[in-house]
Amino acid sequence: MKLLVTAGPTREPIDPVRYLSNRSSGRMGYAIAEAAVSRDHEVVLITGPVNLDPPANCEIISVETAREMYQAVQSNILSCDAAILCAAVADYRVAEVAPEKIKKHSDTLTLRLEKTDDILGSCRSAFGFRGILVGFAAETENLESNARRKLEKKDCDLLMANDVSRKDIGFDSRENEALLLSRDGETKKLPRQDKRQLGNLLIETVEKKLIDRVETR
Ligand code: PMT
Repeated sequence: MKLLVTAGPTREPIDPVRYLSNRSSGRMGYAIAEAAVSRDHEVVLITGPVNLDPPANCEIISVETAREMYQAVQSNILSCDAAILCAAVADYRVAEVAPEKIKKHSDTLTLRLEKTDDILGSCRSAFGFRGILVGFAAETENLESNARRKLEKKDCDLLMANDVSRKDIGFDSRENEALLLSRDGETKKLPRQDKRQLGNLLIETVEKKLIDRVETR
């Protein structure tokens, strides 16, 4: 199959030297891309800024902002059989980016933020993607119920939910633990393990969904 994967954080500029971002290291998304390549799939990896070696044998598209990631997904998704959106995309960007470095003249500084476009939420409705769609949910409470709501709202086939309040899993860790929810109402607990192993399990599940889909046609 041909697979699109997003990984890492986005950076939303405040001025030419500062930005808003988050703690995503890119490890989870890169591990998924590597697992897919090792299972002989073709991978387009759309990545925010990370300090990782690019996985071998992937097409790599590097982006900085949520807007750039949106455009890269829009341009590439329709040629893919499946898409796994693992990136920690900024939900808000600075509405007026300062053209010069902001000087520290006053004791407080207020930034007005505006919502970024929801890339996962656009895959079906705006981009017209009909392949297997996998979202992620980064939650700090009510993991399963929040994830189930996201899966339905964004019309995903699968959704991987992780608890990002823990230090040993989630953001910037080698291991992760997750719930894997599917559209048919099933929830699978994936115990704590290396992100590469988890990536492999996810790719296996996507492969099965693709085969099921072809067989029921
Ligand atoms: O990179 P690591 O350090 O390895 O950490 C991995 C991870 C914790 C970042 C990863 O496992 C994870 O949880 N990724 C999703 C992070 C996130 O943004 O979750 P969310 O619940 O805020 O967003 C839900 C979904 O919408 C995600 O698929 C996200 O990619 C997508 N999204 C979010 C905002 C936006 N504007 N557009 C989107 O497409």
